[in-house]
Amino acid sequence: AAAEKGGFDHFMLKEIADQPQAIADTLLGRLTENGIALDEVRLSDQDLRDVEKVFIVACGTAYHSGMVAKYAIEHWTRIPCEVELASEFRYRDPILDRSTLVIAISQSGETMDTLMALRHAKQQNARVLAICNTNGSTIPRESDAVLYTHGGPEIAVASTKAFLTQLVACYLMGLYLAQVRGIMYPDEVGAVVQQLQQTPDLLRGLLDQMDGVRKLSRDLASARQVLFIGRHVGYPVALEGALKLKELAYMHAEGFAAGELKHGPIALIDDGTPVICVVPSSAMHDKVVSNIQEVRARGARTIIIAEEGDESVEAYADDVIRVPRVPTLLAPLMTTVPLQILACEIATARGYDVDQPRNLAKSVTVE
Ligand code: G6P
Repeated sequence: AAAEKGGFDHFMLKEIADQPQAIADTLLGRLTENGIALDEVRLSDQDLRDVEKVFIVACGTAYHSGMVAKYAIEHWTRIPCEVELASEFRYRDPILDRSTLVIAISQSGETMDTLMALRHAKQQNARVLAICNTNGSTIPRESDAVLYTHGGPEIAVASTKAFLTQLVACYLMGLYLAQVRGIMYPDEVGAVVQQLQQTPDLLRGLLDQMDGVRKLSRDLASARQVLFIGRHVGYPVALEGALKLKELAYMHAEGFAAGELKHGPIALIDDGTPVICVVPSSAMHDKVVSNIQEVRARGARTIIIAEEGDESVEAYADDVIRVPRVPTLLAPLMTTVPLQILACEIATARGYDVDQPRNLAKSVTVE
């Protein structure tokens, strides 16, 4: 097993380190001179042009990738897109027909809740596309089309490289839809793919600079609760950071949309409460910074994830974690990574088995 872990103490740490390669593999061969080519997506251009509504269904970490995808797909395609927990989807009688594209995201391809959501969508004549990491598994077999993530096998129960490759696949699918529908020109699509192609190198650099995060994790290991805030695509990242910490370190951890703090969650904050803040570069930057000031005024210890060169956050930060600068929609490929390491290190500091957390299964094949 030591050899399988490639010199790392845990599969999770190895899989975190594998992420640059997993992203590169997922992008490989999918950009041509004429923009994106997704030949495996066996839906005709006409089918894709007929799409009037997109639903994304998924569970757990895959659901968080779907939340990011919603921002990207709506921005690039202007098609209304909703994302829903697979376990809720079919029980509320969603409105589906032939012009609905349902995207089921699943690492394993065997999650029962996601499979049942997919079957429900098919019964209602929706088209179903799977984004999946496992060749030939049930969810892609039952879908009309599949876009595989090429993350390689993921062993640790808590998902890491599957998440980042799901994001990449969602970006590709959103861009492909925009291209087929003539909303983006192939060269515009190509420009975004080129930005995606730079992310593996940027991530390698980021992974080399995680000493500060490791040090911080020793401080946070005894906290009573840890809160995460973000806006726009930083919101699903906050949720994913909190999920990782719950799964691995068994701590009370919650993610919030930063703008919602004042409507309730801010009551949770007292002296020294760690609040991890995902700060975007974009239009939302100053809004998030003002949310950070609000929590700090209530005594929070603020840990800020900000882009390199963003000095404006220093005044409000107890700790700053730097990530490389990338376009806003792609930022989750960077900002998620320190949160994965943080959860892994806090769990280790608390003496827990990172690869096999209690009460959890890698793939949940019951409803
Ligand atoms: C389980 C795992 C999670 C995973 C979720 C969905 O709960 O513990 O890590 O995100 O299932 O799994 P899937 O294979 O459908 O992506």
